[in-house]
Order: sequence, then structure tokens, then C-alpha cells
Amino acid sequence: MNTARRTLLVTGGAGFIGSNFVLYWLSRYPQDRVINLDGLTYAGNPENLAEVEHLPNYRFVHGNITDTETVRRIFTEEAVSHVVHFAAESHVDRSILQPDAFVRTNVLGTQCLLEEARRQGNLTKFVHVSTDEVYGTLGEAGLFTEATQLSPNSPYSASKAGSDLIARAYYETYGLPVVITRCSNNYGPYQYPEKLIPTIITRALQDQPVPVYGDGLHVRDWLYVEDHCSAIDCVLNNGNPGQVYNVGGGNERTNLDIVKQLLAELGKPESSIRYVTDRPGHDRRYAIDASKLRRELGWQPQCMLDQGLKRTLDWYAAHTKWWLKRAAVPAEGRNGGERP
Ligand SMILES: NC(=O)c1ccc[n+]([C@@H]2O[C@H](COP(=O)([O-])OP(=O)(O)OC[C@H]3O[C@@H](n4cnc5c(N)ncnc54)[C@H](O)[C@@H]3O)[C@@H](O)[C@H]2O)c1
Repeated sequence: MNTARRTLLVTGGAGFIGSNFVLYWLSRYPQDRVINLDGLTYAGNPENLAEVEHLPNYRFVHGNITDTETVRRIFTEEAVSHVVHFAAESHVDRSILQPDAFVRTNVLGTQCLLEEARRQGNLTKFVHVSTDEVYGTLGEAGLFTEATQLSPNSPYSASKAGSDLIARAYYETYGLPVVITRCSNNYGPYQYPEKLIPTIITRALQDQPVPVYGDGLHVRDWLYVEDHCSAIDCVLNNGNPGQVYNVGGGNERTNLDIVKQLLAELGKPESSIRYVTDRPGHDRRYAIDASKLRRELGWQPQCMLDQGLKRTLDWYAAHTKWWLKRAAVPAEGRNGGERP
């Protein structure tokens, strides 16, 4: 383990995975400095980081990753050694309604960060956090490997695929030490209640109907957010520049299975399920082969799905103020959404 003091520029650190990551990192590596650059869109919430905001080695910068001046100022003021890039527009339903925002942030914002990192010229690692959705959809069998062709189907996944390709090009062309991670569906505390699991929990807690897209038989591979953080930890410390690492929990479930399990845990009836019109271009199945990350970097997820769902339920039940402030449904008439 590298114990020298490092300075991490974390983008999107006020969002779901980003805030879990900042809390994870500062408790695990209290000697490191973390700069959190976040534009505070609807999905960002600095309250998530209340427990670290007083720390002298934590700095929050309110700014947009597409703004060269802001990004350059951070690289000038801080001796950034590592970038962990989460900031993105992340919700598929929103991308169907407003694809331009996704291209701006996810593609152009990523390029702006890469370019300023390259200009600084002294970076140890740039971890670009991507998604399994760039691979498109699977049939009933098979897994996504790092060699699977990119075939994104939504404006969200296409913009993430674009960002992966520009990140790769910065490694190939300029030798910037870029590593790309592609993770499956995350769940856990601080997830905005437009995504599947918090939608179901928050609606069920209020005895409201819970929406399920189509026949509910879309399959996702679920990973507790802290296990995603530990995967990024492995990659940041030991990942090889130019490489892609898939991250996944091996927990394939249909959306309907997840919904029924949550309702049962909460003691709510299955009659609260409402099947709603399917999302256009809805990918049927995602499943990740994460054996490269396990084999080469020794990563192991720690949290079993049942345990993680229980923890997540408990967190939402204990933090009603946090989620009641947030609108659950982004797009009129649509499901509360699955997730990216
Ligand atoms: N949620 C998942 O299941 C999942 C799975 C795999 C990969 N990912 C990837 O992980 C990353 C984080 O996902 P999340 O679910 O935490 O997203 P999120 O929507 O919860 O958070 C995104 C954060 O980025 C910030 N942001 C958005 N646009 C910005 C901009 N232009 N400038 C600065 N900040 C901006 C937002 O304010 C927010 O804090 C994304 O890149 C996403 O593609 C997510």
C-alpha cells in the first residue's frame, strides 16, 4: 500500500458513488488530500460530505468539469497526483429527453479534464469511472469482458462510451496514465431516488405504488457501492495504465426479483407493483466478468446482495429527510427509473 501523501482530484464527489468514495477514501487514507470538484446538478449534494467538510485535507470546489479555467486553476493550485473521475450525467431516462447535456458533460467534460491533466504533466494515475452499459445488451447467456465490443444503446451509454474512447486516446497518444473501470449497477446509501432501488424503497416506505418497467424481467448485476469504492482503490493503487477493468458483483437478478425482495423486507404487498410502459431501447441483460480485476489486482467484493439490500433499506428508513427533499420522478409519466 502506498502511504505517501497523495492529492486526489475527485470529480462528481457530491453524487451517489462519488460521495461514498470520498468518505471511504478519507477514512482509509487519512493522510491523503481530496479535492472534490462538483457542479452540484440535481444529483449532487454536499450534505453527503458533512462529516468530512471540516477536515483540513478536504476541499470542495463548486465548478463544472467542462470549464477549462476552473479545472486549470485546480491543477495549478494543487499538486494533484491522481484523478478519479465520476462526474457525469448518469440517468438513462434523462438522457432520452436531453441527450445534449450528456454529450456536453460526459464527453466534453471528460476531454477537458484529460487535457488539463496532460498539461499539468505530472500525474500518477487518471481513473476514468465508466459503466458496463457501454457494452450494450446481452442475451440470456454470456458475460461482458473487457474485450467485448462497445455497442451502447442509449444516449447515456453512448456518451460514456465516447468518454472511454477519448480517455483511451489520451493514454495512447500522450501517455497519460489512464485506467478505465466499467462497473455494473451500484446500490447503497446516497443514491438519488430516481434509480430503481431507492425508487422502490422510498415509495414503499410511503405506501405508494412502485413502478416496474415492461415485464420487469430485465437482468442487472448488482454491486454494493462500497465494493465499487474498493475496486477503484485497487485500480488507483495497482491498476496498469492503458488497461480496462470490469467491476461486478456476480449478483444477477431481474428487476422484479429485486422489487419483490425489497417489498417483502418492508412488509409491503406485491399488489403495490405497477407495470409501466417500457423505456425505449431498454437493454435486456447486463452481466459482468470481473475476473481480470480479481486475478490481477486481488479485488474481492465484501458485501453479499441480501446484506447490502438490508443495509440500504435501513439507511433510507433512517434518512427520510435526505430523500424527501429530492423529487423522485425526473420525467413525467415515466418510471422512477432504473439507473443509468
Ligand atoms: N450508479 C451506477 O450504478 C453506476 C454504475 C457504473 C458506473 N457509474 C458511473 O459512475 C459515475 C458516478 O455515478 P453516480 O451514480 O454516482 O452519478 P450521480 O448522478 O449520482 O452523480 C453525478 C455527480 O456528478 C456531478 N456532475 C454532473 N455533471 C457535472 C459537471 N458538468 N461538472 C461537475 N460535476 C458534475 C453531479 O453534481 C453529481 O454530484 C458516473 O460516471 C457513472 O457513469 C455509475
